[in-house]
Amino acid sequence: MTKDRFYIEDAGKHDGQIVTVRGWVYNKRSSGKIKFLILRDGTGLLQGVLFKGECTEEAFGEFEKLTQESSIEVIGKLRKEPRSPGGFELGVQSIKIVQVADPYPISLKEHGVEFLMEKRHLWLRSQRQWAALRVRSEIMRSIQEFFDDRGFVRFDAPILTPSSCEGTSTLFSTPYFDEKAFLTQSGQLYGEVGAMAFGKVYVFGPTFRAEKSKTRKHLTEFWMVEPEVAFADLEDNMLMGEQFIEHIVQSVLSRKAPELKILERDLTELENIKGPFPRISYDEALKILEKRGIALPWGEDFGAPHETALGEEFGKPVFVHHMPSDIKAFYFKQSDTVGGPAVSGTGKYALGCDLIAPKGYGEIIGGGQREESAEVLQRRIAEHGLSEADYSWYLDLRRFGSVPHSGFGLGVERTVAWMTGVEHVRETIPFPRMLNTLRP
Ligand code: 4AD
Ligand code: MG
Repeated sequence: MTKDRFYIEDAGKHDGQIVTVRGWVYNKRSSGKIKFLILRDGTGLLQGVLFKGECTEEAFGEFEKLTQESSIEVIGKLRKEPRSPGGFELGVQSIKIVQVADPYPISLKEHGVEFLMEKRHLWLRSQRQWAALRVRSEIMRSIQEFFDDRGFVRFDAPILTPSSCEGTSTLFSTPYFDEKAFLTQSGQLYGEVGAMAFGKVYVFGPTFRAEKSKTRKHLTEFWMVEPEVAFADLEDNMLMGEQFIEHIVQSVLSRKAPELKILERDLTELENIKGPFPRISYDEALKILEKRGIALPWGEDFGAPHETALGEEFGKPVFVHHMPSDIKAFYFKQSDTVGGPAVSGTGKYALGCDLIAPKGYGEIIGGGQREESAEVLQRRIAEHGLSEADYSWYLDLRRFGSVPHSGFGLGVERTVAWMTGVEHVRETIPFPRMLNTLRP
């Protein structure tokens, strides 16, 4: 970082000073003898004004050559201007052109999403994309802050793995010398190793699923943060999830309000996201769905309409726990009754907890309490058609000091989509990977 480099976001600290703005032309226009230049430097927008007398003759000449996204260095005097975006304007004195940009494909008018996705490498410079990714960056930061401040150890799980965590139907495979490897679907199983070694850990990285579904919530590559805690049960897990979401919401509100404004996000709605979040069992959720006219047969997983309806019912994130064990992964601890003692056997219910976000953003957290008996897990692994040899190290955790433990995974992109109000997860990650989307 260059010492004393000026950035637009720090304009407030430089009122009345002569500064050099290094950036790009976002837009320009002329109004009689006055020229306006909207500058973008990556940290914000700043309006430059060219007046005769204040700025050099050459600057007027250079202004005429400028095209959208041309790169420039502009020297001028910063002054307060409440009508300008950001509250400041730059009295331009001189302009140095770095490069005159070719005709830019993305104008400030509307474009179709398909076209914009092809031009994703340029689209990112547009205001809404810029704002959404700045919020994403803050969410990533606050995620780490939450766990680091509470003594969790960051524990990195491998991306190349020999086995599945979340079922075999969404695995991406790749040759791995003489054998086959899979891209990780979740770092959880390794996170459990970490919990037994460090007490409380979080895995944070990209995860992969060969999702064939084209929805506003599914990516094939997405980021997940996965805390895992030893000596923690389902209740502890939901409490941690709730405090975690509160922390992220507060961080975004206090540090990224201007970005949320650009995205036209309703801030009062976010301000009201405070715990406790409602906690309902799957059975109770079915009753609510029936009452709302979209009954779901017992044993089936929620689809988008069901999640949307649950969001409407509560108006804030809601935990659904005790799902039918048949629709959950092999590693869940189970129970015969809701609220009854956890059993290590073939329980009807899985001790899972999913957090459903409002407004159809869907499940943002999925997690629960893990089975801690080696014998039960061995049986489940066989029932799920998995190879025991691949999980022998995982079973060891149950043979050498097994303890009750819990954790969850939070999907970063769905969380960013919900907090920014952006409709589709493709706008919440720099380069989304989806069915039919591998470029740029
Ligand atoms: O519910 P999931 O499948 O849970 C797990 O993977 C657990 N092993 C996590 C754990 O307990 N450590 O996924 C967790 C979250 C979902 O709630 C969702 O937010 C996100 O990951 N997610 C996706 N996000 C975008 N695109 C996809 N295809 C996603 N699949 C899951
Ligand atoms: Mg899930």
